[in-house]
Formats: sequence, structure tokens, C-alpha cells
Amino acid sequence: MTKAPHSVPYTTNNAGIPVESDEHSLTVGSNGPILLQDHYLIEKMAQFNRERVPERVVHAKGSGAYGTFEVTNDVSQFTKADLFQPGKRTEMLARFSTVAGELGSPDTWRDPRGFALKFYTEHGNYDLVGNNTPIFFVRDPQKFQDFIRSQKRRPDNGLRDNNMQWDFWTLSPESAHMVTWLMGDRGIPKTYRHMNGYSSHTYMWINGGGEKFWVKYHIKTDQGIDFLPQAEADHLAGADADLHRRDLFQAIERGDHPSWTMHVQVMPFEDAPDYRFNPFDLTKVWPHGDYPLIEVGRMTLNENPEDYFIHIEQAAFEPSNMVPGIGPSPDKMLLGRLFSYPDTHRYRIGPNYAQLPPNRPRSAVNSYAKDGPMRYEAARTGAVYAPNSYGGPAAAVEQFGDIAGWQTAGEMVREAYRLHREDDDFGQPGTMVRQVLDDAARDRLVSNVSGHLKNGVSRPVQDRALQYWRNIDKEIGDRIALNVNGG
Ligand code: NDP
Ligand code: HEM
Repeated sequence: MTKAPHSVPYTTNNAGIPVESDEHSLTVGSNGPILLQDHYLIEKMAQFNRERVPERVVHAKGSGAYGTFEVTNDVSQFTKADLFQPGKRTEMLARFSTVAGELGSPDTWRDPRGFALKFYTEHGNYDLVGNNTPIFFVRDPQKFQDFIRSQKRRPDNGLRDNNMQWDFWTLSPESAHMVTWLMGDRGIPKTYRHMNGYSSHTYMWINGGGEKFWVKYHIKTDQGIDFLPQAEADHLAGADADLHRRDLFQAIERGDHPSWTMHVQVMPFEDAPDYRFNPFDLTKVWPHGDYPLIEVGRMTLNENPEDYFIHIEQAAFEPSNMVPGIGPSPDKMLLGRLFSYPDTHRYRIGPNYAQLPPNRPRSAVNSYAKDGPMRYEAARTGAVYAPNSYGGPAAAVEQFGDIAGWQTAGEMVREAYRLHREDDDFGQPGTMVRQVLDDAARDRLVSNVSGHLKNGVSRPVQDRALQYWRNIDKEIGDRIALNVNGG
């Protein structure tokens, strides 16, 4: 047995047994063959071969930290959710990510950023799985898979391909708002600390009296919005592919704890059918002038994970985790997502992913679920079925109020949303270009789009893209055309 220095503990195998060597396999003589009975060597090789879980199918590259959410304003007239009650502090986990790149991809590629939050509330985990964008590319979950394939790698050469991206976008005009957003300054944040988060979707809030409201969350950075120009981001992609991960970790390590202030827009339940935009269409915002922001609270990230794999790679966020006082809306994308996330976690991590440290609720779990691979916490229900006459848990609808639902009826159809008065795909991006961006931001938008379109996009797709931009804004479209056509 190699002698360990006195100052460090002795190495053991996974069963806690002291090992004989950290460096040498068991052989017959110093030049001889390795023996099968070197079970420690075999354990090391076999464990190594199983170190990875598959990367997330989207949002693979990310970073995260633990923190606290504290309520700063009384919104109890809108929701009874315990984490939003006056004075409340709730422990939480955040994970930020890029979408299309793989686990080792550069942090500074132009892409939306994931903004996933998990709040460990008194009534279980509340997951708010948003992006740094208030909108999205498509409005029906039927198109999500196709959209993502157009952003990832080609099957033949394994390369990403601007032609696929513009082909899909220009054939899907509902993408115009999000593409305008992505090609603008906020498409490459300076760091994760310098971006906002949005629920993007509309959710339902329910107050103690059973009144329902529609809400959108806006989680604004207290560090200030900042971005990287394209050329600097391109350079950094090679110079420091992990820039944003490093920045978040180091900021927290040095005590410079980043924070964000959460706001909501609240729409009275009965406004929805006649609002000028479909309030559940994920490609639209609710203009601030219609529904102003109401402050809710502040989240502060103050603790780096002790182990990246355990706490961040195995973190499992799921929009279906909604606690009493919060519910879904009729946004078709959101309804699709309620299925997708727990399903992918069961595949990616395993069916008992909810027992792992980042996912384990800090409140009691009285679920009748049992068994399965890697389960290590016993069910607390006593009897393994419900109802039972042995004092097992029983559903408590009366304690938490009604189902978070809405009235619905109709024929089964496969149709687009019914249009509201001002619904069209190019209106809101046009407003952004003309009224929100200043001249310098418009110049950068034109340059970003032109650069992208000149890089591997076929002529017919380019032509469709130029028309798409003219539909958003005639002048911007003409300027991009001039660049692309080399005028
Ligand atoms: P406002 O003037 O009240 O809001 C415009 C918002 O645009 C700002 O509050 C800011 O959002 C956001 N913004 C500023 N610069 C950029 C940029 N470079 N890229 C993306 N977003 C930026 O107007 P309205 O609420 O009437 O909205 C007008 C347009 O602004 C919309 O059509 C939409 O395109 C865009 N927008 C609207 C948002 C909303 O929820 N109403 C949110 C974000 C964009 P923030 O304050 O969140 O940083
Ligand atoms: C991650 C599906 C739309 C935000 C994921 C993952 C899947 C998925 C399968 C991987 C999860 C994992 O392995 O842990 C879908 C589907 C969508 C959709 C089917 C539409 C129908 C959206 C939208 C948003 C969003 C609209 C933002 C508003 C995120 C975030 C992550 C993620 C932030 C990463 C979560 C994390 O940090 O672990 N999505 N998604 N997704 N998605 Fe979506």
C-alpha cells in the first residue's frame, strides 16, 4: 500500500475501502500483465465511462447559481402564491444558457439566452423557465422541433447553416419579432449578469378570493443592460469560450452578487378576448402603455454550486411546476412545454431526477410515486395507494382553491389562433425598429443582418429574407438589400 502523507485523508474506492495505489495497476511483475482482480482499476474505468448524462437537447451550455428571492411590493391582491406574499424570502436556483450550441460551445455566439428559475416554496417547487426575450420565434408547439433543427447542425456535414435558419424564418413570418430582437444588440449580452429575463408566456395568477388575472413577468437586471458588438463577440468566442460562465462564477465568488428586480404586467381576466393583440400569442408583447410594470421583488444570486455537474448539469426545470396561486394560460406553446420538460428529464437524467439536490423540494413531498432506477428516498405515504384507510395523504383542493382553469368549448380543429384587431406578424417588430432603437442601434441591426445573410445563404432565400425585412420596415429592408446586393 502506498503511504499517504499524514495531512490528507486516504483514498477509498466507492465502497469506502482504502485503496492500495492511486497510480499503479496490479500486475504480475513490474512489466507483467494487468490482473482482472484489480477491482479498483476496473471501478475507475467503468465509472469514467458512465460520467456523462446526455446534454440537454437545447440550452446545453449554461451556468447557474443559488440565491434568494425577496418580495418588495404587495401583490397579494393578484396572487396567493406563498413566494409572492409581503415580506417573504424564498431560496432559489437560476440557470442561464445559450440555446443552439452544444455543451462546449462559445458563450458569445448570437442566440437567445435561457433564464430558468426554480423557487423552493412552501408548496413545492415553482419553476419559471423563461428566456432573455419577451417573445419567441413560433406560436405553436408543432413547429418547435422543426425550428430547432433549422438552428442546429446539418445532417450531412455536421455544420450550422445560415441558409437553413433563414429558410425556416422566412417561411414562418411569425418569427419576425423575435428575429428582429435577436439580430439587435440584445442578441449577444455582455454577460449573463447584464441581461433581463422574461416569462415570455402569459400565466394566470389567482388571489385568495379566487379572482383570476393574466400576467407576464419581466425580471430586469440591476447591473444594467449591456451587450457585445458582433466583432468583439466573434473574437471572444475564440479567446474565451467560457466567458459568461467565468464571469458569473467569479462575480459571486468575489461577493459581487448579481441581482434582478422582478416586475409583472397584470391584465384583468376579462380583458383577454377583446384586447387588441391576442394576449396568449408568444410572438407578441403587451405594450407597457397598456399594462404597466408592477414591482414584485428582487432575486440575488449569492452562492456558487459546490459541484457543477450535480447542481447545474442535473438541474431539471419544468414549466409544469406551478404552485397554488399560479397557473397556465391558453398559450399553445406553454401548454406544449408542460409535457416536454418532465419527459426529457426522465430520459436525460432518469425517472427519479426530482430527488436530486437541485430538484428536491424543500417542502414535504407526499407523492404516491415509488421505485424506479436510483431512487433513494422512501415514499412517506404509508399505504402505496390512494384513497386508503390508513391515514395516507389526501388531495386538498379546498385548502388551495379551485383549478387554475378557464372556460373552453368548440370543435376539435388544427387551426391558427383567431386574430385580434391588431394581430399581424410585422407590426410589433416594426414598432421596435422605428420607435425603440436609436440610429446607432439601427445601424448595428442592418450590419448584423447583412453579415448573416451574406454568409452561406442561397439567392432565393436571401430574396425572401429581404422581403421579410421590408415587411418589418421598408427603410431597414432597403438598407439590408443594398448591403447584401453589394450596391
Ligand atoms: P416601450 O417604449 O414602453 O418599451 C420598449 C422596450 O423595448 C423597453 O422597455 C425595453 O425593454 C425594450 N428595448 C429597448 N432596447 C431594446 C433592444 N435593443 N432590443 C430589444 N428590446 C429593447 O414600448 P412598448 O411597450 O409599447 O413596446 C414597443 C416595442 O418594444 C414592442 O413592439 C417590442 O418590440 C419592444 N419591447 C416591448 C416590451 C414589452 O414588454 N412591452 C419588452 C421588450 C421589448 P425592457 O424595459 O424590458 O428592457
Ligand atoms: C430547455 C423544449 C420553448 C426556455 C428545453 C429543453 C427542452 C425544451 C426539451 C431541455 C430541457 C432539459 O434537458 O433540461 C421546449 C419546447 C418548447 C420550448 C418543446 C416549445 C413548444 C421554450 C420557450 C422558452 C424556453 C418559449 C422561454 C420562454 C427554455 C430554457 C431551457 C429550455 C430556459 C433551459 C432550462 C435549463 O436551464 O435547464 N426546452 N422548449 N423554451 N427551454 Fe425550452
